[in-house]
Amino acid sequence: MIILLTGTPGTGKTTVSRLFSKKYGFRKISINDIATSEVCEGVEKGSRLVNIEKLSDKISQIVSGDAIIEGHLSHYLPYGDIVIVLRTRPDVLEKRLIKKGFDKDKIAENLEAEALDVCLIESIERHRKVYEIDTTKKKVPDVVADMKKILEGRWEEFVPGKIDWSENFFDVKRNKKKVM
Ligand SMILES: Nc1ncnc2c1ncn2[C@@H]1O[C@H](COP(=O)(O)OP(=O)(O)OP(=O)(O)O)[C@@H](O)[C@H]1O
Ligand SMILES: [Mg+2]
Repeated sequence: MIILLTGTPGTGKTTVSRLFSKKYGFRKISINDIATSEVCEGVEKGSRLVNIEKLSDKISQIVSGDAIIEGHLSHYLPYGDIVIVLRTRPDVLEKRLIKKGFDKDKIAENLEAEALDVCLIESIERHRKVYEIDTTKKKVPDVVADMKKILEGRWEEFVPGKIDWSENFFDVKRNKKKVM
């Protein structure tokens, strides 16, 4: 079983996959660690440009048995049995990204991507089994428990389409204007 765990930066992929792999014995593969010079083709606006084909080849060489591949590009991989997209409401995501030390532009870009469901839409375009978990009001172990539910076939509440961040996203933007 290969799980692809994706989502906008700050939604918790690395934190959640660490606990999930420890608890359920899945091998954790972090794309951030794999995307070294071999698979990168330069840098644009502070982000690495990853060659997906090379990344995919490199991961397929090391993957075996149960694995969780995490990273915001994981849903671009042409394999994987299931895709889980972590979601976070923009006002909460903003706080997490500030804590992670992201600059203003990167935060704005990522909040917009989250509000526009970018990872979810890209996942649905590429994979058949796609589920989403709202991490906003949850603790990390709760998200891990939700993932287990999905794997056990109790996936009804995680079917895509229930999340809509548009109102919250505009509130966050409006509040910004007042402050400035
Ligand atoms: N329910 C939750 N699920 C996951 N992370 C949470 C949750 N609540 C709070 N957090 C916190 O949010 C932060 C998420 O950061 P993390 O580095 O795991 O995100 P990421 O998705 O891997 O980001 P990146 O794409 O930049 O690697 C952590 O500090 C984590 O403790
Ligand atoms: Mg990470």
